[in-house]
Amino acid sequence: MITTESKKEEILQAFQFRHACHVFDINKKISNEDFRFILEAGRLSPSSVGLEPWKFVVIQDAALREKLLPVTGGAQGQLPTASHFVVILARQGLRHNSAHVIKMLKDIHHMPDEVIQRLSGFYKTFVETELEDSDRLLFEWASKQTYIALANMMTAAAQIGIDSSPIEGFDKKQVTSILQNEGIMNASNFGVSCMVAFGYRQEDPKRPKARQRLDEIVEWR
Ligand SMILES: Cc1cc2nc3c(=O)[nH]c(=O)nc-3n(C[C@H](O)[C@H](O)[C@H](O)COP(=O)(O)O)c2cc1C
Repeated sequence: MITTESKKEEILQAFQFRHACHVFDINKKISNEDFRFILEAGRLSPSSVGLEPWKFVVIQDAALREKLLPVTGGAQGQLPTASHFVVILARQGLRHNSAHVIKMLKDIHHMPDEVIQRLSGFYKTFVETELEDSDRLLFEWASKQTYIALANMMTAAAQIGIDSSPIEGFDKKQVTSILQNEGIMNASNFGVSCMVAFGYRQEDPKRPKARQRLDEIVEWR
């Protein structure tokens, strides 16, 4: 019987199981069904204003992974061995009148026109004040949202015994140029936010999980 206690135990076990896996077992591939489940965890993730400012590019082409290898220092073990390797893109320049923002409010959230107008006004003010109407801050804000999807995908994977590694160690300019040349992204709409590799570990982590104690990071008032 599934109880709250057993569920909590299972979830915490998944968090303990998840570690940054640097090398995967090349003989074990994630099934399509399991990988779809991981992507679904990304798709269902929350995002500020519900804008879902992400795109998940699954890179399975060995030649493309090889091109990325010299410019992705943080994935030297992961790129050649991961069952599935994902580059997470974040949208650029999401202002109140951007096509994507209008699509999300209108076509995805089916908001009535007067609600869209009101929300657009709030959003415009937010972009102008908090994000200083800056392309760089807008991209960073969109990037932040992608990390929520990243975390959810890794946790979902861990819950079904699949390993992962988040990756920020890459040369953004070079990765962007490779993806542009391959016709995968258009840098006026998207930027590279982060990457994540999935697969099955070749060996268990050498060190036990190291974390600060709860009382070092939590303050109650
Ligand atoms: C946003 C982010 C970026 C990371 N980038 C890399 C990376 O480029 N290469 C790598 O091997 N590990 C990377 N890591 C893994 C961290 O080093 C690792 O999560 C941390 O040391 C804690 O260890 P654990 O995940 O095994 O518990 C990254 C982790 C996060 C959260």
